[in-house]
Amino acid sequence: MTTNKAAWLKKAGAPLSVSDAPMPIAGSNELVIHNHAVAINPLDCHMQDSGVFVQQWPTIFGCDVAGVVHQVGSEAQGRFKRGDRVIGHAVSLVTGRPQDGAYAQYCIVLATKAAILPPQISFTSGVVVPFALEAAVCALSLDKPGFAMPGIQTPALRLPYPSLTAKPMTKTLVVYGGSSSVGSMTTQLANAAGVRVIAIASKKNFELCRSCGAKDVFDYHDGSFVEDVVAAVKGSPESFIGIFDAVSTFETYKDDLVILEKLGGGHLACVHPPPPNIPKDVEAGMIFAVNDIATPVWQDYVTGALESGKLQCLPPPSVVGVGLESIDEALQKCKAGVSATKLVVEL
Ligand SMILES: NC(=O)c1ccc[n+]([C@@H]2O[C@H](COP(=O)([O-])OP(=O)(O)OC[C@H]3O[C@@H](n4cnc5c(N)ncnc54)[C@H](OP(=O)(O)O)[C@@H]3O)[C@@H](O)[C@H]2O)c1
Repeated sequence: MTTNKAAWLKKAGAPLSVSDAPMPIAGSNELVIHNHAVAINPLDCHMQDSGVFVQQWPTIFGCDVAGVVHQVGSEAQGRFKRGDRVIGHAVSLVTGRPQDGAYAQYCIVLATKAAILPPQISFTSGVVVPFALEAAVCALSLDKPGFAMPGIQTPALRLPYPSLTAKPMTKTLVVYGGSSSVGSMTTQLANAAGVRVIAIASKKNFELCRSCGAKDVFDYHDGSFVEDVVAAVKGSPESFIGIFDAVSTFETYKDDLVILEKLGGGHLACVHPPPPNIPKDVEAGMIFAVNDIATPVWQDYVTGALESGKLQCLPPPSVVGVGLESIDEALQKCKAGVSATKLVVEL
């Protein structure tokens, strides 16, 4: 009989503790995945520290998995079979069920938030994709604002989904935090949807931003970067749509609002609640990165794009350790901050 273990969080602020967990059973549209790699996101750090989003204790959290399909629900059998190598986005964040948390040997992922991982891509590379991918789709492709949290609406940039075939450039988007996980994935998907990206990142990460498809990159440490971004947008032939701010701090919001003012307004899509006193010509919102809007991208784009190299596993992983016991160390490293990498644990 297959057994399961997980890295449990027993109370907010506590270290994770590894012990037995119930073996998950796939519902009709679900997969049970035998996890071979998991990744760490800033959200996971907040969940550990404050218990935010936890609905029942003890809990298992974690969003990013790569592994082998162990069991397939009845409705998911057209796309997946036992033994498939996959990546997936685990959503205990919204369901609150421990079996939907990634930090376990086996967990459940909705079939609509999973894709086959091509054989040439390792689990430790592939696992950088899922949560950032869903965040990127939520930043780019919503048609109308929904709710990110009480009183805060989501952005609605109404951009097309990424495509496997080349698209003519029709819009320009500024991505602030172009070397972050979410920023670099948003650059890749925007680029694949025919959007010119102008990225903002540290100079040492310009090459990463360019590999993701950014046409221009500017360093936020440089005193003239706001003016330089404005000039680059004005110099691009496409229409300006706005800014995706993948950092969303007091400092970046100040820059965003100056850029938007000089460019006559536009969207401001944030990863945290937008700043107060938004001008009339700015449409601001905060993404919430669990949304069925991403389903077509999971189903029709991810595997083909990974196969063709159109979607790259960036930023590259840094493997912190092996085994569920290493997840706590990886969470501490993430809290200390990373630059242009995603922290990963092999299982
Ligand atoms: N609302 C949601 O649904 C949602 C979903 C996913 C993530 N998030 C949030 O989005 C944020 C990003 O997540 P992530 O996983 O992408 O983070 P990450 O990869 O850990 O971010 C690290 C990157 O942030 C960049 N950075 C830090 N300060 C910066 C600044 N002032 N200007 C420009 N870049 C800066 C660094 O760039 P350089 O090293 O180049 O300086 C670094 O590469 C987090 O706060 C996370 O909680 C929200």
